Amino acid sequence: MKKKGFYRCQACGAVSIKWLGRCPDCGQWNTFVEETVESASAGNFNERKRDIEPPRPLSEITYTEGKRITTGIQELDRVLGGGVVQGSIVLIGGDPGVGKSTLLMQAVNGYVNSTKGVGLYVSGEESAAQIKLRAERLGIVSDSILVMAETLLENILSKAKELKPDMLVIDSIQTIYTEALSSAPGTVGQVRECAYKLMNFAKQYNIPTFIIGHVTKEGALAGPRVLEHIVDTVLYFEGERTSSFRILRAVKNRFGSTNEIGVFEMTQGGLKQILNPSEVFMQSKAVDEPGAVYTATIEGTRPIIVEIQALVSPTVFGMPRRTSIGIDYQRVSLLIAVLEKIGGLQLGLSDVYLNVVGGLKVLETAVDLSVILAIASSFREQPVERDTLVLGEVGLAGEIRLISQIENRLKEAQKVGFKKALVPQEAIRRKELNTGLELIGLKDIKEVLEYCFSL
Ligand code: TYD
Ligand code: MG
Repeated sequence: MKKKGFYRCQACGAVSIKWLGRCPDCGQWNTFVEETVESASAGNFNERKRDIEPPRPLSEITYTEGKRITTGIQELDRVLGGGVVQGSIVLIGGDPGVGKSTLLMQAVNGYVNSTKGVGLYVSGEESAAQIKLRAERLGIVSDSILVMAETLLENILSKAKELKPDMLVIDSIQTIYTEALSSAPGTVGQVRECAYKLMNFAKQYNIPTFIIGHVTKEGALAGPRVLEHIVDTVLYFEGERTSSFRILRAVKNRFGSTNEIGVFEMTQGGLKQILNPSEVFMQSKAVDEPGAVYTATIEGTRPIIVEIQALVSPTVFGMPRRTSIGIDYQRVSLLIAVLEKIGGLQLGLSDVYLNVVGGLKVLETAVDLSVILAIASSFREQPVERDTLVLGEVGLAGEIRLISQIENRLKEAQKVGFKKALVPQEAIRRKELNTGLELIGLKDIKEVLEYCFSL
């Protein structure tokens, strides 16, 4: 068998026959790593070609709605699109320590409880004893979860074929490797080849497979992009180091919507699901500080109340600093400009820091007005009333624009005890909003500032 050697960029997957210092495709430095392929893999391809399926007319194709099975974790089920689909392959990405192994151990446990089957948990990162320790912490003692500490894919697959588990978990794709390639585990070639073989296995045996993937410093899944194309579903598990809240987000889902999130809290006894996130993200409701404003964002199908905090302080060294956590920085710059030009607030000599409480990321423009109000409130050192929800998109001329699903947001606010809401005037004019909240319709940010701070 002839071995062919080539070099592959670890960042974008570009191939070169000689080593290059800089990748001509993505421009990254020092990313080329040598890989070899047994040329026999061409033989595999021919084999696959033999049992070719003839094309059929679309109208004649039938399908059965795949059965979904619960993991016993409602928040995870929802992000998956309503439970685990048979034969699907799901990738879970996240920073080290965020709780991926914990989540999947709990998921396997719930799954085997609901199917009365067995789950196979393969770890290339931890020893069986370490996995046992974690399971003990989680209070999981089960005969139905089989644990295997192994890194060679061929071994994993042959055991899996023998056992035919009801669920397979691979604890980290970066630690396993296939004999077909001579490159080190974790390189693009290895990651892709292993994921591809796992996918074939999952489809062939109809076994739902979860793969854990690490995230690079830049926040992308290592083995960039290549993995995302192969699998059915990609979930990201996010959380700030300083907060115990974790958010599970779908970024790709062949079996469901991608804008659902699941909210968890990491506790002493594992991950606890948070079924009513609004209550979590507005913990400091009792404090009456300037710079904090409540708004509602829609995540998937759920409205969540979030607290936006701003701190405006005098600039010490010339250039004013602006930082934002949880909200798009460009959007914040734009809103500050509107606040200066239209609202008449002089922020040129102030640092502005923005934060979304609880580590949530808010990408909607529907929270614009709350950002503006938080900044203005901190600048003026006048609080905004705590029982008031603020909703509205802000345009460049300072006008307050309509937002989507306003009624849903208001209902959620009422449920958690808000009394009042500032909303775009248009929203009230167009339609009777039945929410039980006192609604204040506002036209532009001048009116808002006047209403809140009598400016
Ligand atoms: P882990 O699931 O190992 O993270 P990952 O697989 O994403 O690297 O969990 C990481 C952290 O969670 C670890 O620092 C300890 C903490 N933890 C708890 O707080 N409570 C628990 O019950 C468990 C199992 C872990
Ligand atoms: Mg882990």
